[in-house]
Amino acid sequence: MRPPGPAAALDALNARHPWSHNDHFHGWILRRLPEHRRRAIDVGCGRGGLLARMAPHFDEVLGTDSDAEMRHRSAERCAGLPNVSVTGSPLSELSPGADLITMVAVLHHLDLADALTRVSDLLDPGGRFLVVGLAPPATLHDQLWNLVSAVTNPVIGLVKHPRPDRSGRQPPGFPVADPTVPFDEVRAHAESLLPGATLTRRLAFRYTLEWTKPQRRHRTT
Ligand SMILES: C[S@@+](CC[C@H](N)C(=O)[O-])C[C@H]1O[C@@H](n2cnc3c(N)ncnc32)[C@H](O)[C@@H]1O
Repeated sequence: MRPPGPAAALDALNARHPWSHNDHFHGWILRRLPEHRRRAIDVGCGRGGLLARMAPHFDEVLGTDSDAEMRHRSAERCAGLPNVSVTGSPLSELSPGADLITMVAVLHHLDLADALTRVSDLLDPGGRFLVVGLAPPATLHDQLWNLVSAVTNPVIGLVKHPRPDRSGRQPPGFPVADPTVPFDEVRAHAESLLPGATLTRRLAFRYTLEWTKPQRRHRTT
């Protein structure tokens, strides 16, 4: 048998020290909550971890997910939280009036331009849109960031999960899709549809997008 190569060794190390690349960004979101906190919507809420973390901060938290199993898991996860509800309604059918909309590893499942336009309509002035996104590497810059993520991944795993996991158990999965729109293209769409949006490349093969909907202008004459 051939000895495992560096990629297989890295995979094995990552498996022994697992961590969620999505949950890792919950703190980033919670540090950026908007001033008004009446209603938050987490689109593509998956197993509901972020809904539970946002619940203490908002009057009402709505999770949406197109997958019935995920909605069930979210509802179970948030069963003791009366201000959290979960729906299968698509973005296009949600009622407007949100102070925060979040998408963690979800934007690449949606039509980018439609989703950004709809978010802008749903948010109240002063409301915030926070995205943790995935994008395929298209430029040398993207590839370098992915390389840095690949190298730091096991180090972060060792810090977050220092005791090796030898159980072989995998956490229950969720629907995934390969991202197709590169970072520069996401940025160009965001800058045109959400003026003032900030996009930042991050570790963990992710980028973040942050946008606050401008307050309405008042006529002075
Ligand atoms: C990669 S998972 C991320 C789940 C969760 N946000 C997290 O961070 O763990 C993507 C989620 O988006 C959901 N999804 C995919 N297309 C969707 C759509 N059009 N509307 C709402 N949710 C969608 C999937 O069912 C899945 O739960």
